[in-house]
Amino acid sequence: MKYFVLVFAILAILFSLSPIEACESSCRKGVASGFATAYTKEIKPFFSTFSDNLIKNLYKNVDLKSIAGSTSKANGIKTVINNAIKSAISKFQKDFSGNFSKLIQDSIFVQEPKFKGDCSKPFRINQTKTLPWDPSSCEKMDYICGNPPSICHFLNSEVKPRCVENVKNDLKRKSTDFEKILTNTINDTARKNGIGGNKLKKLVSDCKKNVQTQLKSFINDFSTKFCKNNNCEQYDEAIKKEILSWP
Ligand SMILES: *[C@@H]1O[C@H](CO)[C@@H](O)[C@H](O)[C@H]1NC(C)=O
Ligand SMILES: *[C@@H]1O[C@H](CO)[C@@H](O)[C@H](O)[C@H]1NC(C)=O
Ligand SMILES: *[C@@H]1O[C@H](CO)[C@@H](O)[C@H](O)[C@H]1NC(C)=O
Repeated sequence: MKYFVLVFAILAILFSLSPIEACESSCRKGVASGFATAYTKEIKPFFSTFSDNLIKNLYKNVDLKSIAGSTSKANGIKTVINNAIKSAISKFQKDFSGNFSKLIQDSIFVQEPKFKGDCSKPFRINQTKTLPWDPSSCEKMDYICGNPPSICHFLNSEVKPRCVENVKNDLKRKSTDFEKILTNTINDTARKNGIGGNKLKKLVSDCKKNVQTQLKSFINDFSTKFCKNNNCEQYDEAIKKEILSWP
């Protein structure tokens, strides 16, 4: 027992003396926040185009008049479904961007090579007592380690490409869930508005094809165009400033 305590004490002392530099929890959140803000803005037009396209094409090859019973009932159903779809898409968008902070922190601090570890060997910069870091530290800190200037140095070559790729993959990964959310929305809304039995089944399965087509083209569009053509470089300065403001 004594031995155990001694070992523990030695480890604790060693740990407190070790020069390992790591951006701690609040720093990681802070570093990620610049990206999260930028990407939350940047995904908006993609989702809004998707929402418009889906509503425009949701009833393609769907005989809504015979399902609903009359043209006026069909129009009524369309309105409530469209509204429910719009809210479902905006909720998904909100949840999706709500997870950016964690996703980006993982991209920087967990994914290999991770921005962790000693930044003093070899020596490049001294940490000043006051923040933010000097902008020149961003240039000098030219290897991957645990301080903000290192993240800044590798912003274009390593950090941004990872974050962008991971956001794209996250959307792809969630597309099956998203499809379910949308078809369930149609199902529930139509059912609450008096459509049932085989008519409901037919409505949901016919609309589902259109959901799948639009979702597929949304994901493709997002994968090819998100943060392409210099769309995201406009955020670089703000992101760098945020990064260099952390110890
Ligand atoms: C966001 O993350 C939470 C918690 O990990 C998860 O339950 C939710 O499904 C995610 N939502 C989206 C749209 O990414
Ligand atoms: C860094 O700090 C050390 C020790 O305090 C000092 O000797 C050295 O001149 C400093 N280097 C720079 C580039 O500021
Ligand atoms: C529609 O919802 C009902 C009740 O929740 C469920 O039993 C049915 O499987 C759903 N239909 C489709 C096509 O998702």
